[in-house]
Amino acid sequence: MATSSSLEPSVPLPLSPDILNDLQESSKDWALTHGLVVMYMSPDQICCPDRITYVPHTLLPSPIPRQLFERMVSLQPHINLLMHRVAEDREFMTSALKSTIKVDDFTAKLFEIYEEMHQAGFTKPVKLTLLRSDYMIDTSGPQQVMKQVEINTMASSFGGLAANLTHLHKYNLGLHSGAQSNFEDNLPKNESLEALAEGMVKAWQLYGRTEAVVCYVVCCPEQNIFDQRLLEFMMKKKVPCIRVIRRGLSEMGKKGHLSEDRRLFVDGLEVAVVYYRVGYVPSHFCCGEKAWDAKLLAEKSLAVTCPSIDWHLAGTKKIQQELSRPGVLEKFLDDPAIIADIRATFAGQYHLELDEEGDAAAIMGIRDPERYVLKPQREGGGNNFFGDELMQTLTELQGKEERAAYILMERIHPQVISNYEVRGNQPVQLKDMVSELGIFGIFVSKSSDVVMNTCAGHLLRTKNVKINEGGLAMGASCMDSPYLV
Ligand SMILES: Nc1ncnc2c1ncn2[C@@H]1O[C@H](COP(=O)(O)OP(=O)(O)O)[C@@H](O)[C@H]1O
Ligand SMILES: [Mg+2]
Repeated sequence: MATSSSLEPSVPLPLSPDILNDLQESSKDWALTHGLVVMYMSPDQICCPDRITYVPHTLLPSPIPRQLFERMVSLQPHINLLMHRVAEDREFMTSALKSTIKVDDFTAKLFEIYEEMHQAGFTKPVKLTLLRSDYMIDTSGPQQVMKQVEINTMASSFGGLAANLTHLHKYNLGLHSGAQSNFEDNLPKNESLEALAEGMVKAWQLYGRTEAVVCYVVCCPEQNIFDQRLLEFMMKKKVPCIRVIRRGLSEMGKKGHLSEDRRLFVDGLEVAVVYYRVGYVPSHFCCGEKAWDAKLLAEKSLAVTCPSIDWHLAGTKKIQQELSRPGVLEKFLDDPAIIADIRATFAGQYHLELDEEGDAAAIMGIRDPERYVLKPQREGGGNNFFGDELMQTLTELQGKEERAAYILMERIHPQVISNYEVRGNQPVQLKDMVSELGIFGIFVSKSSDVVMNTCAGHLLRTKNVKINEGGLAMGASCMDSPYLV
């Protein structure tokens, strides 16, 4: 459910058929020419490494209230710091995840690694996290507010491509409006590519060995390889001698080893930074124990793992739900105004353990399924339950311990806007759409010192209002850029 549009589009809509035709052709060519591309996926979802296509995108930038955008950007360093302190707090992490790990094997396995590190007294000398905090504009109250969908602390993707979307939209608006173009101030600069690469370079420098490589841990074939490559190329542009290698998880498990002084070697190369773009869902580990060996090996080593296991676990939905409890933010942050601003972005979230509180939450969900989203401890899109499915799943889970593997979240009722989606060979039509704004953050620490804590640009994803889930990689949403109003 969503409310009707009250945000002005960047140009008067609908476009005339001639202009629409002209713009969509130019937009596709601009995207292809400037590397706004993904690997082609066949209709039966097979990735075709020898074919590329433009990334699905909106024809025009989508309106976002300037004040909300700027507030989320300014909050990001505080969110980075909050998550750093959460990740460092063993007592909080252990108690928050206690019931989840009893019933969720994947989180339990990650937690085992976390515990093993603590018990062995291993700490990472340098930590790097590239975060993304995602929001939608909620319209259920008297005024529009940004509500947080989730915080990603791992494999926060599309920062490579996102920076260029602003330029594509600038081009399209110019084409549309010609001499009347006056929108520079409405299109915020997006430094995501440069900034994220800067974070990785910083971690590599802190590791301190010029000959050590950065290892991207990836799927093969990978539909979104160009987003990753752009980051790699930007790192090399900044520091040409950095060498980047790409390995699968189980490949790293098979070919990796630790030296006596805990340095990580893969295929004989010392690794300074392990950058995970996989490893956040059980299917990434389905090729056997070697994949888990890789995770453990990297964690035990001196290499910077992006993210380290504590940060990985801090990004779970369960932790997000615990942070929304009254009084919890105060444990980690000092400034009451910042705490109030962050809390204002939280939608109501409830655990579903087998106790009085959990039962009450489950009943709320079953009675009023349109008001909530049921979320398992999974990442990457396509896992949540809405409406009838939510009611059915919660009913089936009644009295079962597995219920604790989920959280219940109040449903955000996003602002509806109008835009055109440019995707494959589909006709480009004006649609009612909703946007999800992601703000990237970088956090680098060395022992107890904070070395880098910044906002690192943004990502806007927009989807048909009729689609519940919003992942870009799963084909639900398309890339967009904000038009500040
Ligand atoms: N509270 C919510 N209200 C409305 N839609 C939501 C809510 N939470 C998630 N969604 C939708 O589901 C998608 C996936 O949920 P998310 O929490 O981001 O999990 P994932 O880790 O799979 O990305 C989001 O991109 C958004 O479109
Ligand atoms: Mg998400």
